Amino acid sequence: MDSFELNKIAGAVLGVALVTMGLNMMAGIVVNPAKPVVPGYELPGGEVAAAPAAAAAATADPPIAERMTVADAGRGERGAAACRACHSFDNGGPNRVGPNLWKVVDGPKAHIDGFGYSAALRERKAKGEKWGVAELDGFLKNPKGYLPGTSMSFAGIGRADQRADLIAYLTSLK
Ligand code: HEC
Repeated sequence: MDSFELNKIAGAVLGVALVTMGLNMMAGIVVNPAKPVVPGYELPGGEVAAAPAAAAAATADPPIAERMTVADAGRGERGAAACRACHSFDNGGPNRVGPNLWKVVDGPKAHIDGFGYSAALRERKAKGEKWGVAELDGFLKNPKGYLPGTSMSFAGIGRADQRADLIAYLTSLK
C-alpha cells in the first residue's frame, strides 16, 4: 500500500464521519424535541388539576390585603367549582372528602367538629391558629407546602387574583 492509497482510505473515513455529523445536526434541527419545563411524566389521577404552582411561585404575588380590595365573590363562587368535588359551602351542608366550608373564614383551623382532619391540621388547631385571609391564601396557593401532612389532595391555585376571589366568596359564607 503506498501513501496515496492510505490517503484515499483516510479520506473515505473522514468523509463518512463528516456526513454522519451533518446528518446528526440536521436531525437535531428537524426533530428538535421540545423539552418540558419540569422533567418527568404527568401521572394520571391523584391531584386535582390546577394552575402550575411552580410557575406561580417564581413570581411574587401582590399582598393579599391589596388583592382583596379588588376581589369578587361572584367570580370566586364560579372558581369554587374546583372545590365542590370535596367540599360543600352551604350552611349545614354535608362533609364530603373535605369538611363543609360555611363560616370557615376567621374561624379556628379544623373548624368542623367530628370531621376526620389530618394530624397536621389538628395540631394547628391545638395551637389556636385561625383561618385568616392570609392563612387561606397560603393554603390555597400550595396546600402541601403550607401544611405538610395535610390530607387535602389539591395541587393549589397558582393565580393570586383567583385565590383572592375565592377567599372573598368564602368570606361571604356566614
Ligand atoms: C380532593 C379533595 C379536595 C379538594 C378538591 C379541595 N379540598 Fe379543601 N380539604 C380537603 C380535605 C380532605 C381537607 C382536610 C385537610 C386536613 O385535614 O389536613 C380540606 C380542608 C380544607 C380547608 C380547611 C378547613 C378547616 O376546617 O380547617 C379549607 C379552607 C379548604 N379545604 C378549602 C378548599 C378550597 C377553597 C378548595 C378549592 C379551591 C378545596 N379546598 C379543594 C379536600 C379537598
